[in-house]
Amino acid sequence: MRASARAHANIALVKYWGKRDSRLNLPAVGSISLTLKELFTETTVEFVATSDSDQFILNSQAASPEQSERVSRFLDLIRRQAGIDLSARVTSRNNFPTGAGLASSASAFAALALAASRAVGLSLSPRELSILARQGSGSAARSVFGGFVEMHRGERSDGRDAYAEPLADQHYWDIRLLIAVTDEGEKPLGSTAGMEHTARTAPYYPEWIRSSSADLVEMRTAIQKKDFTRLGELAEFSCLKMHALALSARPGIVYLNGTTVELIHAIRELRHRGTEVYFTIDAGPQVKVLCLPENARQVSDFLKNFPGVQRVLETTPGPGAHLMAEEA
Ligand code: DP6
Repeated sequence: MRASARAHANIALVKYWGKRDSRLNLPAVGSISLTLKELFTETTVEFVATSDSDQFILNSQAASPEQSERVSRFLDLIRRQAGIDLSARVTSRNNFPTGAGLASSASAFAALALAASRAVGLSLSPRELSILARQGSGSAARSVFGGFVEMHRGERSDGRDAYAEPLADQHYWDIRLLIAVTDEGEKPLGSTAGMEHTARTAPYYPEWIRSSSADLVEMRTAIQKKDFTRLGELAEFSCLKMHALALSARPGIVYLNGTTVELIHAIRELRHRGTEVYFTIDAGPQVKVLCLPENARQVSDFLKNFPGVQRVLETTPGPGAHLMAEEA
């Protein structure tokens, strides 16, 4: 009744923001992402008869009550599916800063879904695993797969068609994503609450939903054709559109800090001088920079020397969630 899994973070190139159903965590829009090799979560789950509550250790410390509660609610789904009533010991480790807009919930719930379902003896298909992971966190549905991944919004009210699917595997196209960390702290408003507030108060929300399917079509084409210019421009567009939406909420949600904004200008400037670089930003102040392998060194040096950048993480396309050999 024990299993360990590793799942990698992913970065959305076409963003997910908003839910059509919060109980089943059904997204209001589809999204497209790239799974990242260098950033991952490793999770071990063991179901035990000797304890009457779940235990969750995150990065060698007892997790916060909110984090533990979210994990327990997720484990309830698996307990129900497997017909068991045992408590679990969950130990999880991220190899990158938690909760700062680096998509830790994506790798976390993908790893948890795989480890916990295996620990109870369920052997889920990748699609079923994606549907399960989605109920922990929308972006986690994508981390089940490697490389370029599309998450479907789905139409059904039971969520059976709201899953992710691979578009191209991790070896298909070597592009680089450099993450400029501008603030390691936890973000003030998590994605779930941010989405809920946006859907309730932002006047641009209906247009955000209406305009998203065209972005998905175009991003699929850019990936198919390995058209980096199109991919980059569209990633910037989707990112800025999402932030414009969040800013239009009442009160507006501002995930960007001063360094984030300075970097937006600097990256465009670098591009105008001839280096193909594009940015994307999630629900936090870190700036994620897309470039081709031949420019990675130059762009990385540029970011490392930029005032306000604390560190730079260099990532490449990575694999889907997988089980790890049991440690003795
Ligand atoms: C800005 O997947 O963290 O990173 O489903 O509520 O857990 P929940 O939200 P989450 O949201 C991710 C938002 C984003 C964009 C993206 O990854 O598509």
